[in-house]
Amino acid sequence: MLQHFRPLLAALSGAALLLGGCGPDVGPTGATCPTGGTQLTAQNFGMPFMEQYCTRCHGSTLSGGARQGAPADVNVDTLAGVRAAADEIDEWTGAGPNRVNTGMPVNGPMPTTEERRQLSEWLACGAPE
Ligand code: HEC
Repeated sequence: MLQHFRPLLAALSGAALLLGGCGPDVGPTGATCPTGGTQLTAQNFGMPFMEQYCTRCHGSTLSGGARQGAPADVNVDTLAGVRAAADEIDEWTGAGPNRVNTGMPVNGPMPTTEERRQLSEWLACGAPE
C-alpha cells in the first residue's frame, strides 16, 4: 500500500527543497585567512562577539530550558569550544565570498554583516588568541 505513495512523497519533498522550506539556510562562506594574517584576536573580537550574541544560549554552564534549544555540544563561552565548532559557526553565522549566513543567533541583537565577515575571517585564521 505505502509503496503507492512513494512517488508522491518524493515529489512533495522535492518541492519543499525548491521552496527552501527545510530549516535555516546555512552553508560554508568560503572565507579564507588574508595573506598577511588577521588583526582579529579572541580578545579584541572573537570572545566579545560570542558573549554579545551567543553565550546566553550556548554557554557551558547552561542546561535544560536555559539553553533555549541550543545543542548541548555547541558551547562558545571558551575559545576551545569556539574552535571545536569553528566550521559550524561559519556555516550558521559567518559571512564570506560565497554567502552571508543568518541562521544564528535565532533572536535578540543581530550582528552586522561586517561583524559576520570578521567572524569568518577570524575563524579561517584558526581563531587566534
Ligand atoms: C536564543 C538562543 C540562541 C542564541 C542566542 C544562539 N543560538 Fe545557536 N542554536 C540555538 C538553537 C535552538 C539551535 C538549534 C537550531 C536548529 O537545529 O535548527 C542552535 C544551533 C546552533 C548551531 C548548529 C549546531 C549543530 O551542529 O547543529 C551553531 C553552530 C550555533 N547555534 C551557533 C551559534 C552562534 C555562533 C551564536 C551567536 C552568533 C548562536 N548560535 C546564538 C539557539 C541559540
